[in-house]
Amino acid sequence: MSARPPSDRSAPGSKATLATRCIHAGATTDAVSGAVMPPIVTSTTFAWEAFGEPREHIYTRSSNPTRDALERCVAELEGGARGLAFASGQAATAGVLDLLDAGSHVIAPLNFYGGTRRLFDHVRRRTADLDFSFVDMCEPGNVEAALRPETRLVWIETPTNPLLHIVDIGAITALARSRSILSCVDNTFATPCLQQPLLLGADLVMHSATKYLGGHSDVLGGIVVAADPDLGRQLHLLRSASGGVLGPFDAYLVLRGIKTLALRMERHCANALAIARYLEGHARVARVYYPGLPGHPGHALAKRQMSAFGGVVCFEIRGDSAAVGEFLNRLHLFAIAESLGAVESLAGQPATMSHSSVPTAERRAMGIADNLIRLSVGIEGEADLLADISQALDS
Ligand SMILES: Cc1ncc(COP(=O)(O)O)c(C=O)c1O
Repeated sequence: MSARPPSDRSAPGSKATLATRCIHAGATTDAVSGAVMPPIVTSTTFAWEAFGEPREHIYTRSSNPTRDALERCVAELEGGARGLAFASGQAATAGVLDLLDAGSHVIAPLNFYGGTRRLFDHVRRRTADLDFSFVDMCEPGNVEAALRPETRLVWIETPTNPLLHIVDIGAITALARSRSILSCVDNTFATPCLQQPLLLGADLVMHSATKYLGGHSDVLGGIVVAADPDLGRQLHLLRSASGGVLGPFDAYLVLRGIKTLALRMERHCANALAIARYLEGHARVARVYYPGLPGHPGHALAKRQMSAFGGVVCFEIRGDSAAVGEFLNRLHLFAIAESLGAVESLAGQPATMSHSSVPTAERRAMGIADNLIRLSVGIEGEADLLADISQALDS
């Protein structure tokens, strides 16, 4: 019987289930040693075969074998041509904005991650002469109404952080494409396991890999995947120029996280749905935001474009900021902390935490009330999480 070389282990292809693809996408087995996880290549530079004959990798700011393995993996999971890993989600978003010439106009959601809003409105408006319109994207007509001759990018986030609005990716990306405008979807909350924006028509998909992809609150990273190889090449050139790349140790951690992504997402979603249902029936809860609840305005759309509803649940507690503080301080299993998407459950007040960088008036216009609480539901036992929330609400 002839031996099969390690490099013969090919990627599983788009027909395999997500559970299989999360483990095998990118064919990351090391061709030389057969190591099933790629080595962490720390070298910043790579010796040339001879003068004028560089090898595949030249300098780690441009490419690195460990980062390449992660990029191949995420590109394949998203169904794209090329992945580019950045030092954080924010660096990835900045990398997408670098595609735009000064004077370009960008349409972005009214309600989305506060840090992205800060980068758009308070940094790139000033430093790159970009202009932004923030519109409620739950109604695709609002995007059409905001179009200008100089519009070059539509930035979509769905589900949105924190109010979990659901945006019709197919409708908005079709509109953008019909006007030769780029579209990019922040897919952080859904992950490729629940939603694949490129297959719905987007040109670019972006992730804060700090969240579900990494999944263990121990690595900061960002990834952009381009549907088209040329767009991928442009992003690569721009990233090499600006230098905000993901280091090899961090690339390895994100890749390791992705191996269990499908399994984790199943549990995140099941726990979140159980908590949303529980909160809906609680007298101290004024309103629950979770796209898996039939009463959520985006429920039907979420069922169409997502395979499950994600691990974040938000709710408004009856009362003011003091009631929020009392509830958060009574929790035992949920840590009061920024961030989301990791194995452990976290809770916070968007107004003073994830969205504190958004000025109060803008935050109110986004619909983020002071009594809003965001839960990043982890993968602990469902009964334990429900018991923790119940004692914190009832005591
Ligand atoms: C939806 C979303 N996009 C982007 C980011 C930014 O990612 P990072 O913190 O990795 O820079 C975050 C961070 O919370 C986020 O929630």
